[in-house]
Amino acid sequence: MVDLAIIGGTGLTSLKDLKISRREVVHTPYGEPSGALTFGSLCDREVVFLARHGYGHTIPPHMVNYRANLWALKYAGVSRVIAVCAVGGIHPDLLPGSLVIPDQIIDYTWSREHTYFEKDLAQVTHIDFTEPYCGKMRSVLIESAQRANIPVATEGTYGATQGPRLESAAEINRLERDGCDMVGMTGMPEAALAKELEFCYAVCAVCANRAAGRGAGPIDIREIKATLSRSMAQVCLLLEEAIGHC
Ligand code: HPA
Repeated sequence: MVDLAIIGGTGLTSLKDLKISRREVVHTPYGEPSGALTFGSLCDREVVFLARHGYGHTIPPHMVNYRANLWALKYAGVSRVIAVCAVGGIHPDLLPGSLVIPDQIIDYTWSREHTYFEKDLAQVTHIDFTEPYCGKMRSVLIESAQRANIPVATEGTYGATQGPRLESAAEINRLERDGCDMVGMTGMPEAALAKELEFCYAVCAVCANRAAGRGAGPIDIREIKATLSRSMAQVCLLLEEAIGHC
């Protein structure tokens, strides 16, 4: 059984150094995951990898089947998840290329399948979401970054927007007033579903751009892609350091 999963976001559709042993297509009661689960070893540790947007990066954030993805990982025996998410920086310190381990989240998404507790219930179920992320996994990521000399912001509030369009400057002002430090489109419902399935789940957010109205001009998608491809080397180093300690 493999108990650790890595979910790759935009810019991370594969793990370069993963020695792949097998792939498994899992059909779930919630439909199809974004792709086959990829099993293998990374730095001598067995892990399973899943590309959130599909291996060809074809599934937009609002169409990702988050329920199927996490259910498939549970089915495979996973109990711990490190998820990589691209974000726009709202806090002035979050410049393109920065890494953040968020500790809080605000959900602005709508009409996504966001719970496993919806029908055929013996009892109405409310999960506690005071701490949306697993403290143990956050510490592993933060301490691993420190050991590997990789700068990371050790806290921050993630604002999860619906997408696929980017935000208006006024929407970013509102998110900032709400206390968001970063904005991304995939943080929810993934974090809540992970909590429902009792995963130890944390996010490594990669700042791809300054959020709308916070940079010099309009957001340039080519620059986002270029920043993400430059930053992924550091993300992979962090993952490699972290997996030995979780
Ligand atoms: N907004 C929302 N999602 C994002 C952004 C952004 O500016 N950058 C990367 N993902």
